[in-house]
Amino acid sequence: MDRVETVEKALRRIWSFSKALDLALIDEEVKKGLELEVGYRHGERVGYMAVRLGYILGLRGKDLIFLLVAALLHDIGAVGGFADYHGKPELMEYHSELGAEIFEKIFPHEGFAEVLRNHHKTPADGLDISLEAKIISLADKVDIIMGRNPISKEERAGICREIRLADGIEYYPEVTGAFLQLAEEEAFWLYMKEDDLLEPTAFMLLSDSNGQFYSDYRYVAELMYSDAITDKLAETFAFLIDQKSSYTGKHSRTVAENACLLAEGLGWDAEKCREIKLAGLLHDLGKLAVPKKILDKPEPLGEEEFQIVKIHTFHTYNLLSMARFSKNIVEWASYHHERLDGTGYPFRKSANTLSTGARLMAIADIFTALTEDRPYRRAISRERAMVILEKNAGTWVDRELLEVARRKLL
Ligand SMILES: [Fe+2]
Ligand SMILES: [Fe+2]
Ligand SMILES: [Fe+2]
Repeated sequence: MDRVETVEKALRRIWSFSKALDLALIDEEVKKGLELEVGYRHGERVGYMAVRLGYILGLRGKDLIFLLVAALLHDIGAVGGFADYHGKPELMEYHSELGAEIFEKIFPHEGFAEVLRNHHKTPADGLDISLEAKIISLADKVDIIMGRNPISKEERAGICREIRLADGIEYYPEVTGAFLQLAEEEAFWLYMKEDDLLEPTAFMLLSDSNGQFYSDYRYVAELMYSDAITDKLAETFAFLIDQKSSYTGKHSRTVAENACLLAEGLGWDAEKCREIKLAGLLHDLGKLAVPKKILDKPEPLGEEEFQIVKIHTFHTYNLLSMARFSKNIVEWASYHHERLDGTGYPFRKSANTLSTGARLMAIADIFTALTEDRPYRRAISRERAMVILEKNAGTWVDRELLEVARRKLL
């Protein structure tokens, strides 16, 4: 893999996890009745703006990439409560601290945690914080002020005026200066209306003329694309998905464990076992986009609500393929609601196109779900769950794999 390709892959991976967080914010917007006005693509937009500001302020190479990663994931501590977490000062503090703790686990050797901890600080707090935190603090607020409608020339001037007025109180002066410089550029405002900010960001980073970026590429690839970081990202997102609903407490992690047991039962090698574990951890990634009130609903879901739930595996597919996970991981994770008889969703796969890994994941998912409490029923016993699966052998799930499941899961 050449170095440009390596860096692009690393960026895609982190960008895709940022998109997953942004999907979780959509849930919050729905809750507030805002119809996706503000939260939509918040992380991506803050990421793009932060890189532009960081560049003006002299950050280069890996410093610029760190800034991007922190900006893309800055609200990682706010999943499941974006609106609440940003409404009250004490919760503002709480989600920043939680984000810092999460970052400390994923990227233990970097100063990342500080950036997340301070992303809502202002000069009025009188603290000495990093330049990265100051940049994100401004980009975050500007993204909210901007909203999602096209912005007229007058509105642009209004935003700049507002920022100038609050300079030194809400905004850190060096960042205010950089923003006002950026705001002069017509293209900046045009980009903020674009759907795809990854391409311009990647292009900017990759074409950095001073060459420092290239000297850092190995480091970046190591950091973002390494097995160690990938495993930690998957564990973290499994936790975020599971904690969204009180009923799915450890669902993703248990599916991953059960899938590993089945893979062992099939005699798979270590590499394939790792892939099935990652697929298990991330299989419900798209659930971040399903409103909590639907996930927790005790009554049967209405047709429209069920349609919303069904989209989750579609999101899982798009996010994982964008993140350039292997074909195995993408498919094993995303096909867990497909059925052998073609009645599953969302791709309507059937026996001739469902691989062993996908069949295995479907069994791990159904078995795990049946043995967990749900808002509308209590957990059922492992033995009984197996009987239910066996009733659907050949139509929904694979008969031979159920024999492995009997051996390994009971
Ligand atoms: Fe925040
Ligand atoms: Fe934010
Ligand atoms: Fe699912």
